[in-house]
Amino acid sequence: MQTIKKYVEANTQRFLDELIELLRFPSVSADPKYKGDVRNAAEYVARKLRDAGADNVEVCPTDGHPIVYGEKIIDPAKPTVLVYGHYDVQPPDPLELWETPPFEPTIRDGKIFARGACDDKGQFYMHVKAFELMQATDTLACNIKFMIEGEEEVGSDNLGTFVKANKQRLAADVVLISDTAMISLDTPSLETGLRGLSYLEVEVTGPNRDLHSGVYGGAVANPITVLAKMIASLHDENNHIAIPGFYDDVAELDAAERKALNAAPFDENEYKADLGIKAVWGEKGYTTIERTGIRPTLELNGIWGGYIGEGAKTVLPSKAHAKISMRLVPNQDSDTITKLFTKHFGSIAPDYVSVKVTPHHGGQPAVTPTDSTAYRAAEKAIEEAFGKKPIPTRGGGSIPIVSLFENELGLKTVLMGFGLDSDNLHSPNEKYDIANYLKGIETIPLFHKYFAELS
Ligand code: BES
Ligand code: MN
Ligand code: MN
Repeated sequence: MQTIKKYVEANTQRFLDELIELLRFPSVSADPKYKGDVRNAAEYVARKLRDAGADNVEVCPTDGHPIVYGEKIIDPAKPTVLVYGHYDVQPPDPLELWETPPFEPTIRDGKIFARGACDDKGQFYMHVKAFELMQATDTLACNIKFMIEGEEEVGSDNLGTFVKANKQRLAADVVLISDTAMISLDTPSLETGLRGLSYLEVEVTGPNRDLHSGVYGGAVANPITVLAKMIASLHDENNHIAIPGFYDDVAELDAAERKALNAAPFDENEYKADLGIKAVWGEKGYTTIERTGIRPTLELNGIWGGYIGEGAKTVLPSKAHAKISMRLVPNQDSDTITKLFTKHFGSIAPDYVSVKVTPHHGGQPAVTPTDSTAYRAAEKAIEEAFGKKPIPTRGGGSIPIVSLFENELGLKTVLMGFGLDSDNLHSPNEKYDIANYLKGIETIPLFHKYFAELS
C-alpha cells in the first residue's frame, strides 16, 4: 500500500493532465460528425496503453467505431483479468446548460468537469494508470487484458461480433469494469447487478397530412391527444406497468434480501432536495432503493409532434411520436418485453389512428455473484484502500455487455465503480471527483494482488 500511495502522489499531476487530454476528444459515438474524433480518442488510448507497457496493442476496426485492445501476459499460469471500458461518450446537449464547455475539461472544487469525466473515460483510465503503476513498481500479480470500446453509449452493436471472433485472445478469469457508481468515499459499495433495457420509438398517425385545426378539429382525432392517452394508460393507479405479462418473469426478492438492500444508507429528504422535487414517485409497495434497483420501470425519454416553433400555428398534426425505454430486472428478457410492448401498444390504439413501433437497442439484465474469488478480492481491495468493507448494492443503469461476456466467454464480472450518482452522467456538467479518480488508481492494484492471492 505504501508503494502504491507513493507512486500515486508522485504522479498525481501527470495522471490528471493525461485524463484531461483524453477528455478533450469529443468522442460522441451517436453523431457521425464526430467519427474522426472518436477514432482519435481510440488512438490516444492505444498510445497510452503502449506507454504504460502493454503488448500487442491494436486499434481494431469494426463496422462502427474501433475497439482498443492491449495486454500484458506475465505468466500463463497466473490468473487473467479482462478490463472492459468505453472511450465513447454521450452527446453533450443541451450545451447552454454547461457552466464550462463539455470538451474543455475544467477543475473546480476538486472535481473535473467534462463530458465523459466519469462515464467512462475517468473510470477506465484509472485502470490504465493502475497498470502503469504495477508495471513501473514491478508488482503486476495477474495477467491483464484491456478491451476499451467506442460504441457503449449507442448499444455496443459491433462488440458481440468482436467478442465471438476473438474468444481465444479474450480468454480470462474475470471481467473487471469501472463504469458504475459507489455510495460515497465514506461509504464504499459494489454494484452486484444491473438492469436490462428495451428501448423503442412509437409513431401514431391520424390523418394523411397536417390539417387546419379550425376546419377539421373536432371531427378528426388529434394523434397527439391519442398518444398522450395511450402513454398515460401504461401505468395504473399504483404505478404498476399495465402491459399484460410484463411482470411474469420478474424475480422477486425474499424478505431477507429486501431487508439487506434497504440497509444501505439513504436519506430521502436529501434525495428530494438534491433533485428539487417535493415528493418521490413510484411503484406502490416498494422503496426508492428498490424502485431503482430491483424493479422494472417504463420511462418516456422524449415526446414530440405538431408545431413546436416560435409563436402559434393552428394545426391538427398528422403524426405524434415518443421514445420509450423500459429497464428490466432478472429474469426478464429484452426481446420478450419488446414484443409484449409492441403487441399491447397496437391493441390499445383506437381505430381512428394507426401505430408503428420501432425497436432500438436492448440489453439483458445481469447479476454478479458475491461469493466469487473476484468479488472477495474487490471487497478486500476496497476495505484496505478505504478502511471500510463495501456494501453490496443494485445499480439502476445498464451495461448490456455484462451478459454478453457471460454467455460468450463464460466470464463473470466485477463492477468496481468509483463514480457517484451525483456525477451528472448523460447530463450537463458531468464531473468526476479527483479524490475518486486517485482512490480508484490506488484500489485497482490491490484488486489484482488479492485476486492472484485468492485464486
Ligand atoms: N455507465 C453507464 C451505466 C451505468 C451508470 C450503470 C450508472 C450503473 C450506474 C453506461 O454508460 C450507460 O449509460 N448505459 C446505458 C445503456 C446503453 C445501452 C446506452 C444506460 O444505462 O442508459
Ligand atoms: Mn458507461
Ligand atoms: Mn453512459
